Amino acid sequence: TLNIGVLISGSGSNLQSIMDACAAGRIKGRVACVISNKADAFGLERARKAGIPALHLDHRAYSGRESYDEALVATLREFDVELVALAGFMRIITPVLLEAFPMAVMNIHPALLPAFPGLHAQRQALDYGAKVAGCTVHFVDPGTDTGPIIMQAAVPVLPSDTEQTLSARIQKEEHRLYPEAIRLFTEGLLEVSGRVVSVGA
Ligand code: GAR
Repeated sequence: TLNIGVLISGSGSNLQSIMDACAAGRIKGRVACVISNKADAFGLERARKAGIPALHLDHRAYSGRESYDEALVATLREFDVELVALAGFMRIITPVLLEAFPMAVMNIHPALLPAFPGLHAQRQALDYGAKVAGCTVHFVDPGTDTGPIIMQAAVPVLPSDTEQTLSARIQKEEHRLYPEAIRLFTEGLLEVSGRVVSVGA
């Protein structure tokens, strides 16, 4: 069973869906540790409740992004992590982390990439007038939300939508999609060719 390290900054509802899928045996892996850059992230409590090591690594205690990522790598290695899942981790990561875990860092983004990368993706979709929105699970590369796409799910944008109602509709799909993408990874079923990811048999 594969050791998964989950990086968060907030509520951790995606973390919860991953922990639940592991507990249910749907993912052949376990969440080995949860790291937050924010001390008050509710996801840390979710992890502790599940008996999973929950650590706060404060980015402000480091001189730069690289030295922060070195600390992340050291901690992830302590827990023998083989897959790093970014789940609402609101920090830009550097090649220091990516080179330590080649093709083994995933992220979930609340938009149908390559549309609306970066912050406030749901707000961007509403402001743009998009009629379809959704979420993307992708491997992380050095760009912002530019890595190879693993899975996507679409939801409608309704005329009455606010940022909150649209985000909730997208999140429901996130909680289904992210565990499924991780399941495929842990079973060795993801094949990457250039930027195209396919699912093996
Ligand atoms: C999720 O909606 C995720 O897609 C988004 O943050 C939320 C975290 O929620 N990620 C990004 O915007 C990354 N740029 P959670 O803490 O409840 O999982």
